[in-house]
Amino acid sequence: MDFEFETLGSSVIVTWPDGQTTDYPFIWLRDNCQCPKCFHPSTHERLLFTAAIDPEITPTSVERADDGIRILWSEGEGHESIFTGKWLYHNSIASPIGGTVRESATLWDAASINELPMFDFADCMSDEKVLIRWCAALRSLGVAIVRNMPSHDGAVIEFADHVGYVHDTIYDRLHNVFSDPNAYNLASTSEELKPHTDMPNYFSPPGVQLLHFLANEAEGGETTLVDGYQAAVQLREEDPEAYDILAKTDVGFRLASEKGDIVGQAPLIEVDNRGFIRTIRYSNQLMLPLLIPGAEVKGFYDAYRKFTNLLNTPENLIRFKTQSGDMVAVHNHRVLHGRAEFQPASGARHLQLTYLDFDLVMSRLRQERVREAGEDQVVERFY
Ligand SMILES: [Fe+2]
Repeated sequence: MDFEFETLGSSVIVTWPDGQTTDYPFIWLRDNCQCPKCFHPSTHERLLFTAAIDPEITPTSVERADDGIRILWSEGEGHESIFTGKWLYHNSIASPIGGTVRESATLWDAASINELPMFDFADCMSDEKVLIRWCAALRSLGVAIVRNMPSHDGAVIEFADHVGYVHDTIYDRLHNVFSDPNAYNLASTSEELKPHTDMPNYFSPPGVQLLHFLANEAEGGETTLVDGYQAAVQLREEDPEAYDILAKTDVGFRLASEKGDIVGQAPLIEVDNRGFIRTIRYSNQLMLPLLIPGAEVKGFYDAYRKFTNLLNTPENLIRFKTQSGDMVAVHNHRVLHGRAEFQPASGARHLQLTYLDFDLVMSRLRQERVREAGEDQVVERFY
């Protein structure tokens, strides 16, 4: 990678071909020396003790190496650091990276998502390339359907174990959903379920929900899905103040079973410190009383109503009937799921669900890149 550089003050300033510059302070460069004394060659973990670096550290020389720069440091009898241009570019610390939704996510609404990404169970299990495409769909759209699942108990766990491993919760690892006269939650009735995310009561809700329709013969019970990121972006455009309220107000949720009783709280729209939306938490049925000053309550309910309307409007919500043997996977930090009311007497309806961490989906994608390009070539981050 082509670039120019100069030392200025206590930094190396790199100018890229497009004229952009990046400021790499000496202490940052010393800390990230990639040599085998500073980073273990096989574990890739840092050996250098960062806090011991002299805050005033200065190189004795900075010169061009083959495809990067070579720095000699005054300490450690001329310790040498070599950085390739590519490594510096991908670790360009001054890049003004910020926004509302990460580039890897493609927002959708009912008009733009003509066809849901569809995969075949046997192909996902036998062909790594197909599984990678399934992961890529979850990353970009937050939803992927797998058809022709086996009809036996626990097939959804087999799928989860093939991707990585199950994220256990206070539900059973293999959670059965059917209409039950003694239901302990709304999912086990035949009532409509408005779009929601699962397990918002956890400080880290499971990132992927896998929902296998073993039988879906009853009348009604259509699946509903909505892109929570898209609805949040729309809210921010239409009413920035409402968005801000939902991004800053902690909301408590509770879910209990025989295995535990978990209460957590976080904003409905959780945003990282660069402004990117990280996690949507939304479950009308599990929300606890708000614990905020009385003067802020009306503002919250106004914002909540606006967000709820965007999540439920037919412009954003998609509605479709799954077949027996389908599995719907959603990114549970982003896409909300629900179902229409169904008639339990009209036919069988039996679902099995389990969860995965979204990190495992990203891990699969990263491993694929490393396999394709080689360990030292993959410097971009996956999140
Ligand atoms: Fe759910």
